[in-house]
Amino acid sequence: MRIDIVTLFPEMFEGFLNYSIPHRAQTKGRAEVVLHNLRDYSLRKNRSVDDYPYGGGAGMVIGVEPIANCIEHLERERRYAEKVFVTPDAPVLDQPTANRLSLCDNLLIFCGHYKGIDERARQLFFTQEISIGDYVLSGGELAAAVLTDAVLRLLPGVLNDETSALSDSFQDGLLTPPIYTRPEEFRGHRVPEVLLSGHDGKIRQWRYEQAVEKTRRLKPELLAGMEE
Ligand code: ADE
Repeated sequence: MRIDIVTLFPEMFEGFLNYSIPHRAQTKGRAEVVLHNLRDYSLRKNRSVDDYPYGGGAGMVIGVEPIANCIEHLERERRYAEKVFVTPDAPVLDQPTANRLSLCDNLLIFCGHYKGIDERARQLFFTQEISIGDYVLSGGELAAAVLTDAVLRLLPGVLNDETSALSDSFQDGLLTPPIYTRPEEFRGHRVPEVLLSGHDGKIRQWRYEQAVEKTRRLKPELLAGMEE
């Protein structure tokens, strides 16, 4: 798949894209992530993209024109299955959304900054809006990175069997059960005996019970649909 990210700060993505799973997705040829600087689409001499809000108020607003120039330019090259604006005033990203976006051939993600973007751009140029949580970040870059990571790790061949996305929290509607590695005992705290038993059936049953218990304790809303 190809992900085009539009941002005022392309450098913010360099570290993130060059390590771990996002890096592996690209080097394995499963994904291409292309960064675009919104300033390249400003028609002003000083390359600025923002202006004062009509009606007054604090903060600057990214104008509709550079956004239109940029997206129309990119769309002349390819069709996007989704054009996503990351913003705190939107539905929160969840696993089914990441799963669905991972099936797209071409995805565009637009990062806002300052006070936000002109409402007309939101209505005219994006097919979906996504928040990564009910808090406000300085800009959309970290949100775009979170969304990109959540999508790239799902692409076939990016994770190996041991790290398979199928065993992630949320993929079966449950949080993951507790996991342990050596040593068997640390300062008097032992690994649960069942995990040392070698009995696959009992281990599977224990993990399922733990996952249900942990989900009930920490995210009961995930169980609501299952218990109907
Ligand atoms: N931009 C600023 N805060 C954000 C958030 N919580 N989610 C998505 N984009 C954002």
